[in-house]
Amino acid sequence: CGIVGYVGSRGSIDVLLGGLKRLEYRGYDSAGVAVIDDSGHLGTRKHAGKLGILTDDLGATPLTDGHTGIGHTRWATHGGPTDENAHPHLGDGGKLALIHNGIIENFAALKEELLAAGHSFTSETDTEVAALLVGDAFRRTGDLTAAMLEVVNRLDGAFTLLAVHADQPGVVVGARRNSPLVIGLGEGENFLGSDVAAFVEYTHHAMEIGQDQLVTIRPDSVEVVDFAGTPVTPPTFEVDWDASAAEKGGWSSFMAKEISEEPEAVAKTILGRVHDGLVDLPEVTALGAEVLRGIDRVLIIACGTAAYAGMVGKYAIEQWARIPVDVELAHEFRYREPVLSPNTLVVSISQSGETMDTLMAVKYARERGARTLSICNTQGATIPRESDAVVYTHAGPEVAVASTKAFVAQIAATYLLGLQLGQVRGTLSDDEARGLVAELQEVPEKLRTALGVGERIKDLAHWMANTRSVLFLGRHVGYPVALEGALKLKELAYIHAEGFAAGELKHGPIALIEPGQVVFVLVPSPRDPRSLHSKVVSNIQEIRARGARVIAIAEQGDAAVLPYADEVIRIPLASPFFEPMLAVVPLHYFGMELAAAKGLDVDQPRNLAKSVTVE
Ligand code: G6P
Repeated sequence: CGIVGYVGSRGSIDVLLGGLKRLEYRGYDSAGVAVIDDSGHLGTRKHAGKLGILTDDLGATPLTDGHTGIGHTRWATHGGPTDENAHPHLGDGGKLALIHNGIIENFAALKEELLAAGHSFTSETDTEVAALLVGDAFRRTGDLTAAMLEVVNRLDGAFTLLAVHADQPGVVVGARRNSPLVIGLGEGENFLGSDVAAFVEYTHHAMEIGQDQLVTIRPDSVEVVDFAGTPVTPPTFEVDWDASAAEKGGWSSFMAKEISEEPEAVAKTILGRVHDGLVDLPEVTALGAEVLRGIDRVLIIACGTAAYAGMVGKYAIEQWARIPVDVELAHEFRYREPVLSPNTLVVSISQSGETMDTLMAVKYARERGARTLSICNTQGATIPRESDAVVYTHAGPEVAVASTKAFVAQIAATYLLGLQLGQVRGTLSDDEARGLVAELQEVPEKLRTALGVGERIKDLAHWMANTRSVLFLGRHVGYPVALEGALKLKELAYIHAEGFAAGELKHGPIALIEPGQVVFVLVPSPRDPRSLHSKVVSNIQEIRARGARVIAIAEQGDAAVLPYADEVIRIPLASPFFEPMLAVVPLHYFGMELAAAKGLDVDQPRNLAKSVTVE
């Protein structure tokens, strides 16, 4: 869910709706606002469906504006996406409004207690429990900070809560446990948001709020305490991007814009991290040369697209640093008591830095003595803060729910890490490292060339709009790219799609091939000395013989695929490790264009959210 809070002198409804618009990628099942007007009256408005429904309604029948308010855009957990279940929820006889992100795990017991005390409920949400409890506590204490502090100590689970009370205009109180919340510091105004996008239009000056902390913002003050009530002074940071970076500009969708930014995402991730032709990641070397030399295992944990970037990284880190690397889905990791030691380097990869599954896995690894390193695209996010070290990707804000430019930047970051480890551990000679670094530095330019396939893919997508199933085959680093291509079709075009390791085809999936079945094949370079190219070309012949319609993604000049493929999409020449960042471009386009051809919302696919802050 996306959360925004405001106190200051501006009209709060505009600030809230603007913030929610930029946070809508966090959930779009419903949206709502609550505002305290100048006569001390609390007004709320909420609707199921996308933010636009709420915005239109407020345009048609305005709410009396004020200077204190909270807003919410929801990704439904407890209770379906209805008007009633939309946030804010009310307490204290309608004088208190509260919004929530996360799951309150002990809500059933608390609900019984509230029912026994004579309360009735208007929704099926766990949030309403918190609203009623804070409302009751306010009646006793007469102070929103005191009331919130009392209640957060009774809640189990993960939550960000924001509340306002009609009797305390000019005050917004927020609390967080394992869910995101950042503070935006202004002049005579202050902001709260799930991430800095909520307020970057007004201020670049931000404050991190730690776990189990509670913040009270007024126009001229920000006070933070821990859940025991002890004052704390959280660190501040400057947001390094402008609001315009998170706007669509002239593009048809955020996704179209973000694919076009793939070259810059890689370039900026490398920028400043190469000295004298070698990788220089002080974030990593600060762990100490002894520690880095002692690492005997790397474990990459992530979810979704980030996990596929990690799978690509596995091949490179293993090859260059000669350390065994495993990749695990974060949610599968901690529930089977994994074997960890101080010599295990746990690398988490997360665009948002907030994915709850990944966060919990990082915490688990850290508690059990492993070293933790985060690859993250979002400043001030939780996962980097919970890790021993962080290598930021500098892809810039990613708004479309399906990840694109972050994926290529994540691969680049794992490569920097693999090269740095190889350099420190002496498994790469300086010459080898310099050669690889030079190739990595050429990727952005090659990506610019790769973007040229956009129009071609659009045509392909049009004739494929009614396809019901698509398969993707890849081998070595092409395998995770196949998985990513399939994921994009599922999330964007709602088409059943599967990625397979090409060598596995004959062990089962080939049974799926029937006449007309569309299969994308990532073809390794014919210049690859391991002759993977000829093996994959054989795979193509096997499926072709059974009637598959083959779309080959192959490097410029590879003529061997021509007789066997129905379509060949060309990518620039690169050595094997550098192909994935190029080969994924047509697949990202394909997901987007197929969704567009089917008339679907490219940026906000159904049922998904960009930052999933529940387990
Ligand atoms: C969600 C998004 C995916 C994303 C995954 C991991 O499922 O819909 O696009 O890949 O989360 O997100 P993260 O922010 O941790 O990279």
